[in-house]
Amino acid sequence: MTYLLIGGAGYIGSHVAEIINKSKRDKVVIYDNLSTGFREFIEAESSFFEGDILHEKSLDTVFSNHNIDVVIYLAGLIKVGESVSEPLRYYETNIQGLVNVLRTMKKHNVNNFVFSSSAAVYGNDSKHGGYFYEDDDKNPCSPYGRTKYFGEQIIQDFAVANKDFRYSFLRYFNVGGASKSKRIGYLTKNGLMPTHIIPSISYYAFGQSNEFKIFGNDYKTPDGTCIRDYVYVVELAELHKLVAEKMVQENRNLYYNIGSSNGFSNLEIVKTFEKILDRNLGIGYGPRRSGDPDILIAANKKITSELNYQIKSDINEIISSEIEFRKHQLKKD
Ligand code: UFG
Repeated sequence: MTYLLIGGAGYIGSHVAEIINKSKRDKVVIYDNLSTGFREFIEAESSFFEGDILHEKSLDTVFSNHNIDVVIYLAGLIKVGESVSEPLRYYETNIQGLVNVLRTMKKHNVNNFVFSSSAAVYGNDSKHGGYFYEDDDKNPCSPYGRTKYFGEQIIQDFAVANKDFRYSFLRYFNVGGASKSKRIGYLTKNGLMPTHIIPSISYYAFGQSNEFKIFGNDYKTPDGTCIRDYVYVVELAELHKLVAEKMVQENRNLYYNIGSSNGFSNLEIVKTFEKILDRNLGIGYGPRRSGDPDILIAANKKITSELNYQIKSDINEIISSEIEFRKHQLKKD
């Protein structure tokens, strides 16, 4: 199959491309505006088109030049805090971009779509002690989360009107780590610092940022710090391919939480870094960050029962692969 990866030069997209290219049978076409993605992440096997999801003409050109079977949509803005201060930019990019892609798919009669959704669609109000099931209520509590929630609604409405259209939603929990190739991983552009916990600790541990603090230690958790569910970026990438293949073979719509169903507190994440690095990082606490729920863990039985797949992401592997990637980057610089 030929896969079009929209946002395929970014952190997650480049891992998806690496997995698909390994199979040799399939082809990868990447469409990316390189605003957060990297040209160096694109392998020689992939065809690359530099373009923006807001430019429908450029999208049209890619679909005219390639016989696309499946679109994997990984583009868009992803920072929860930023979405609160710049909501219109988030709605314009994430919603208008999605509409443009769907319209172009319709024009070119491309009917298979995998959408990067997020645990942010659920909100903070777990009915199961911090766990979320796929069919739980959706109460997203940031503009970012709402763009993902509305995105899912738009895709479902589009599918009702277009009977041959098939979609999959992958609701990512907290993604971390890097490919063992050390070629791709989490990198920021233009001197910006990461905001997610794993790369933030890693940048700090290797002297690339001056400060890291755990945001809050008075949450309702055993050690007082927030608990999250971490998924290894390589397993997440493999799941894009698996889910796309199942969607096409079985000709049906799929939606899954992508998380390990194991929770780790922020303090446990810091301690795991310290254990692997074999040094104390001297990390302290800062005030709470607004909007952080106490506990967020994926209930992940749906993917196991429907696809016979057990998510196996391991926190030690996530953090050691992140450390290996960071060391490799520092050697290059
Ligand atoms: N944290 C710190 N210090 C930091 C950065 C983060 O203590 O410098 C803490 C946060 O307060 C939070 C935890 O680390 O308690 C995880 O925060 P991240 O920013 O790494 O991730 P989030 O859980 O906020 O968000 C992630 C994804 C979102 C997605 C969400 C779904 O990045 O895209 O999970 O829950 F929407």
